[in-house]
Amino acid sequence: MAGISDLSFRILNRRFGCEFAFTEMISARALTYRNSNTLKMLLADPSDRPLGMQLLGNDGKVMARAIELLREYKPDLIDINAACPVAKVTSRGEGSAMLSEPRRLFEMLKTVVSVSEVPITLKIRSGWDHSSVNAVDVARDAQEAGVSAVFIHGRTREQGYSGEVDYQTIRKVKEALAIPVIGSGNSFSAPMIKKMFDETGCDAVAIARGALGNPWIFRETEHFLREGRLPEQHDIRELIETMKLHLDLVVEADGEKHGTTKFRKFFAWYVRGLHETRSVRSRAFFAETRAQMLELIDELGRSHFRTRLTSGTKRSWGDQ
Ligand SMILES: Cc1cc2nc3c(=O)[nH]c(=O)nc-3n(C[C@H](O)[C@H](O)[C@H](O)COP(=O)(O)O)c2cc1C
Repeated sequence: MAGISDLSFRILNRRFGCEFAFTEMISARALTYRNSNTLKMLLADPSDRPLGMQLLGNDGKVMARAIELLREYKPDLIDINAACPVAKVTSRGEGSAMLSEPRRLFEMLKTVVSVSEVPITLKIRSGWDHSSVNAVDVARDAQEAGVSAVFIHGRTREQGYSGEVDYQTIRKVKEALAIPVIGSGNSFSAPMIKKMFDETGCDAVAIARGALGNPWIFRETEHFLREGRLPEQHDIRELIETMKLHLDLVVEADGEKHGTTKFRKFFAWYVRGLHETRSVRSRAFFAETRAQMLELIDELGRSHFRTRLTSGTKRSWGDQ
């Protein structure tokens, strides 16, 4: 997730059972300019493996050069983004706009597959809008171009991030391809992830917003898929410990000021579903130092020490 899946976020989630993670999407053009913010997104460490790196772009030559530059960062695979719905991206013909230019996408994929030393995968949406759902054709072409797997978010670009997930189209993509298909959309809880498997027959499911303030989703899902029931929910003590661990990881990676600022949004995600957090949440948005943020986390722990997080506690986006 752009703006979210940095090194500290990935390390945290791996500790909770995330088995494969991706960098934020990286603009191929910015990479060829050696833009410093872009290079920072490629920071990883040995515990942060296996790691996919995702490229955004629509020009075969620029993409090929970016793939060459990525070599030094040793990606385990490179994913091509043809799914991003943001207007700034699509107005350049990149991201989900590539779905409206299937021929160009096909040629670009052939080029990147031919120059890459690691597997190339493709991330798509079901289509540009409801009248142009073309995921099956795009995915078939991608397979022919040599990609190793297809990730599909079961929404059109027009839908953005809300509205129904089109499980039917994901199923059709799965049935049309021999390579692995990974489903995405509304992975907000273990039962919803199981639903994605059941409805589509996909080979794997990608977790995105469901992990915001909820790294437990990985081990809960693993348990649910294995045992058929949810494990016991973490308690408030574990929530507080996890928030502190996350804060420390962000501060270590980004420095105290920037790290604390970055953590503010996570604070809000962690407390989602807990009652009477408005005051502490709004003060977290002004915290500037690690110590100030820690004090607010401790205050949350003191005021909620009696709270039991049951499976009925609203903890994830899907419950909203
Ligand atoms: C803030 C945000 C940033 C995202 N950035 C990316 C990205 O960089 N690359 C990508 O392939 N998908 C990105 N996505 C899309 C997710 O990977 C996922 O496909 C989508 O959110 C649907 O899954 P969900 O409903 O389970 O969250 C992003 C989503 C959000 C909410």
